[in-house]
Amino acid sequence: MYINFWYPVCAVNELSNKPIRITILKHDFVAFRDNKGRPAVLSDTCVHRGGSLAGGKCKEDGTVQCPYHGWRFNAEGECTRIPSLGIKAKIPARARVDSYPVQEKYGVVFAFLGDLPAAERPPIMEIEEDGKPDWRSTVTSFDVNYNYERSIENGLDPAHNEYVHPTHGNQGEKEEEYRMDQLEPHKNNPWGFGFLATFDAPALKNWLFRRFRPEGGKMQAGSGTVGPNHMWTFIHFSETKFMHQYMFEAPIAENKTRVFLVNFRNVGVTKYEFINKFLDKKINERNMWIASQDIVVVTKLKPVMTPPSRTKELLMPHDKVILQYRDMLDSFEHRGWKIDLDTVNVAHAKGDVIHAIPSPARRTDKGWVLDPVPLVPPQKQMAQAAE
Ligand code: FES
Ligand SMILES: [Fe+2]
Repeated sequence: MYINFWYPVCAVNELSNKPIRITILKHDFVAFRDNKGRPAVLSDTCVHRGGSLAGGKCKEDGTVQCPYHGWRFNAEGECTRIPSLGIKAKIPARARVDSYPVQEKYGVVFAFLGDLPAAERPPIMEIEEDGKPDWRSTVTSFDVNYNYERSIENGLDPAHNEYVHPTHGNQGEKEEEYRMDQLEPHKNNPWGFGFLATFDAPALKNWLFRRFRPEGGKMQAGSGTVGPNHMWTFIHFSETKFMHQYMFEAPIAENKTRVFLVNFRNVGVTKYEFINKFLDKKINERNMWIASQDIVVVTKLKPVMTPPSRTKELLMPHDKVILQYRDMLDSFEHRGWKIDLDTVNVAHAKGDVIHAIPSPARRTDKGWVLDPVPLVPPQKQMAQAAE
């Protein structure tokens, strides 16, 4: 797990003036809209004596009020009132919690969980189709009981389709013709990479999807990443009929992940909104049906996280993309952004320490009550090599 990336918090329509608790990177956050409707994401742990701010209330002055002793925190994380001191009391400078940069994009609320200044932040994955009239999108989310890196690697893996998804391949029935080793690079970027590949796949039988792909044969599809947790999958049913899926994943714990799927399509888009809405529902149901085929297999992968040694798996040429992804993760580690989960887990097990994911204000301001989450020390020489 890495700090300094944009993580999905909730759908835009889930955020209101009722605070919600969200766990990402094994830490809790409170998310709410302030009195001006601005989204806010703060560290959930009240610096007074550890109350959970998400259990409190949003107040008319734009703050969230801790349920324990009523301290109020604004969207910047600053404490604006300590009721026990009296209404006009001066608030100590250390009375603040971390506040994270927030963006609402593609129907999802994203928080930047890290301390980089704006100019240095890796981006939210770009969606070129966003706002184009012949494309339509939906947002869905679901939780899976596996590690987010296993999830991304599964999405990148071109060779699982043949066996895991009956609609995407031939279930090994054409083994004498089947190969998966020609990957064409696509959408390489400073924070990730991608590829397209040609698959041999059957015609689709479903009453709706057979319109998109009435004949079997070759089709193009591929996947790629931006950062550790943003992934795209393009499915080209034919030369003109496309579905472009964008996944934004939030690691909750080692074995738990929340996936936000922003599904763009240029098929099943009509001039009648009620038909579009009906098709949204059918297409989302089908996407979940396909995802359920992955979930069955990936939930059972061992070990829970990918092994740190590459000699403890036997990788083949088509696994090159898996190695590319892991190399990219290594480069984030070399920048010093990897959370030291061993140390975090010891602290959580003992139960007497809670950390905060550091926010950008920590670069300039001193005197924070909670210590920042421990990170794996950067390996300076390797960082230089990676750049
Ligand atoms: S713990 Fe939050 S106000 Fe006391
Ligand atoms: Fe899959």
